[in-house]
Amino acid sequence: MTVQEIVAKRGNARENLLQILHDLQDSTEGNYLRREDVEVLAREMLLSVSDIVGTATFYTMFSLKPRGRHIIRLCESPPCYIMGEENIREAIREKLGIDFGETTADGLFTLEPSSCLGSCGVAPVMMIDDELYGNLTRDKVGRILDGIAAREPLAAGA
Ligand code: FES
Repeated sequence: MTVQEIVAKRGNARENLLQILHDLQDSTEGNYLRREDVEVLAREMLLSVSDIVGTATFYTMFSLKPRGRHIIRLCESPPCYIMGEENIREAIREKLGIDFGETTADGLFTLEPSSCLGSCGVAPVMMIDDELYGNLTRDKVGRILDGIAAREPLAAGA
């Protein structure tokens, strides 16, 4: 979807900005907000570019740099930390070769830290795209990542 189509769908009121940024990021290859799109968006919404960039950088779910197709958000808040977040981070590092802020060479996964994801009762927790995974163990993380990679067209054809 183009910026104009997204704004037409949501309406150009300021209160729609977060949803518009979500739509825009989701429809952009590389899962991020491109500078040129932000400039068009600013014109369409009668906002300044710095206003939109300020909003985008305030929320961790938005990125101004290209990212992998799937975003892994690993919760680092105290309940998850106590329940073994570091162990899960290590498992991801071993499995995918990436740490926080990094993307796999095949462009499939980006790993990001997250604050509480609202599911402390099943800590440690991570979210991949819109799906939440709890009660994580090293083995479980491996199976989840294998399952997602196997659904990718390239992996399926390999
Ligand atoms: S602290 Fe991790 S989900 Fe709440």
